[in-house]
Amino acid sequence: MPPQVRLHQIFDWDSPQQNARLRRELAAGLLQKPASIAPKFFYDKLGSRLFEAITELPEYYPTRTEAAIFVEHLPAIRQVLGQDFTLIDLGCGSCGKAGRLFHAGVLPSRYVAVDISVDFMRDSLQQLKRELPAIEMTGIGLDFTHELELPDDIPLQRRMFFYPGSSIGNFSPPEAGRFLRGLADRLDASGGLLIGVDLIKDSAVLDAAYDDALGVTAAFNRNLLRHVNARLDADFEIGDWKHVAFYNATDARIEMHLEARRALTVGWRDSAGRSVRRFAAGERIHTENSHKYSPEGFTALLASAGFADVRMWTDRSEWFALFFARRA
Ligand code: AVI
Repeated sequence: MPPQVRLHQIFDWDSPQQNARLRRELAAGLLQKPASIAPKFFYDKLGSRLFEAITELPEYYPTRTEAAIFVEHLPAIRQVLGQDFTLIDLGCGSCGKAGRLFHAGVLPSRYVAVDISVDFMRDSLQQLKRELPAIEMTGIGLDFTHELELPDDIPLQRRMFFYPGSSIGNFSPPEAGRFLRGLADRLDASGGLLIGVDLIKDSAVLDAAYDDALGVTAAFNRNLLRHVNARLDADFEIGDWKHVAFYNATDARIEMHLEARRALTVGWRDSAGRSVRRFAAGERIHTENSHKYSPEGFTALLASAGFADVRMWTDRSEWFALFFARRA
């Protein structure tokens, strides 16, 4: 029999309840001025694949820089994680980062993969289990940006939350603080948090990372509208929308938007029948913020969220940082 993974599907994109909640959330965002769509809607199956492709682009330095930090500081990382721990991978995607750690000899006794994109996670986790059958593996389909309740069979002791890739930057700083507090509340003194954070740097480097020459990030951004069309019975014409990404130095964040190429109307089905939103030419839908931090700023955020004993490793150019912290 092939090795088994355990699966908990707490969040299901297609359950009638979640679907109704997501449709309400989407409709409210579209009716706002300016309109917005939450970045979690990037991650349907194709969106998850496009994000994997982004991580291989020459302009998108975070993934390879973080991977190099792991390689360079592996002994210290192994030491802080210790032995016999449960690695809880938040937003595991293809499970690639955890897989690389395991193949480098950083081996938990149990691996818990958490992702909103349930099908993508299940396939990736089953593949990883075939490669590493000795590690107990559990997959949880969960919108952890909305709720963080873990199933009872995930032991509290020696939990290590793993949140790489600077996904924390997709929250605003106050939301990030609340999210980190939620993680601290789900740890005891034996556990910790290993988290990747993108640092403030030259804006030309940042602009290129979010507007690559091949147009993969543009496809990732515009794919959101395909997902919204399917989920909301909306009639976005993908070709009418242009990818816009830039570094906003005042708020230390990359902003991504979709900009209407012409005046147009978008409609969708709702409980009242049909709703519409008119967009002027050049009007934008805000789709993502990606906040960048200074080492001191993120250390302070961790402390204010209830973490202590902060360690930080970075690359030579100080483009990216990996933090480890324990519950205070
Ligand atoms: C998932 N997250 C950390 C990515 C980022 O860099 O903010 C999402 C992304 N958006 C465009 N490119 C990558």
